[in-house]
Amino acid sequence: MEKIRHVAIIMDGNGRWAKARGKIRTEGHFKGVEVVRDIAIAAKERGIEVLTLYAFSTENWKRSSEEVGYLMKLPALFFSRYLKELMEKNIRITMIGSLDGVPKDTAQILRKAMEQTRNNTAMTLNFAMNYGSRREITEAARAYAAEVASGKIANDCTEEQFEQYLMTAGLPPVDLCIRTSKEYRLSNFLLWQLAYAELIFVDVLWPDFTSDTLDECLLEFQRRDRRFGGAK
Ligand code: FPP
Repeated sequence: MEKIRHVAIIMDGNGRWAKARGKIRTEGHFKGVEVVRDIAIAAKERGIEVLTLYAFSTENWKRSSEEVGYLMKLPALFFSRYLKELMEKNIRITMIGSLDGVPKDTAQILRKAMEQTRNNTAMTLNFAMNYGSRREITEAARAYAAEVASGKIANDCTEEQFEQYLMTAGLPPVDLCIRTSKEYRLSNFLLWQLAYAELIFVDVLWPDFTSDTLDECLLEFQRRDRRFGGAK
C-alpha cells in the first residue's frame, strides 16, 4: 500500500447544503466546522501526517460583508469547541496564507492555537486561511529575488530550493487533493504543490462529508497508479 502523508481538501458546498434545507448560507458553514473536527480526528486515526484545509481564500473577500464576517468567526467557534480535544489527540495546528486583513481577535485565536499546539506530533492540521496560491508563488519569487539582489545567493535555484520559499516549506508533498460538491476546479489552491498529487472530486457537499467518504477517497487513491511522469 502506498503511504499517504499529506491530504489537502477544498471544502465546498456549505451554501448549497444550507439552501437545500431552507437555511441561510452561514448555517452551512456552521455545520462545516463540526465536519472539520470529525475529519481531522479521522485523518489522524488513519495515520495521515498533514491535513491541509482550504478555509478562506484570497478571493472569498468578494462575498457579502455578512458572510465574510461570519467566516472570520469560524476559527473562534472551532477552537473554543475543539482546541482541548485537539491537544489531547496531540494534533498540531499550523496555517498557510496571511493574517493581514483578518480581524484582530480571529488572528489572535489562530496564533494562540498554533502556539499552544506547536509541540504536538500526531498530525498537523494546516489551515489555508486568507490563502491564494498565486499570491504565495508571487511572494516566494519576490523573497527569492530580494536575496539574489542583496548578493546573499546566486540566481541559480533549483525547484527544490524554490519550494523552500513557499508557505508549505517543511511539509511533506501533497499526495491527494479532494474537492467536495461536484465542482471541478482548483480555485487557486496549492497550484505548485498539486503538480503530481492525485485529484479526487466527490459529489458530497462538505457538511455531509464523513469519515466514510474520507475512507472511500483513500481507497480510490490506493487504486491510482502514480508514475510522476515516468513510464510503467
Ligand atoms: C465553500 O462553500 C466553503 C467555504 C468558503 C468555507 C469553508 C470553511 C469551513 C467549512 C469551515 C472552516 C473552519 C475553520 C475552523 C476555519 P460555499 O460557501 O462556497 O458553498 P456553495 O458553493 O454551496 O455556495
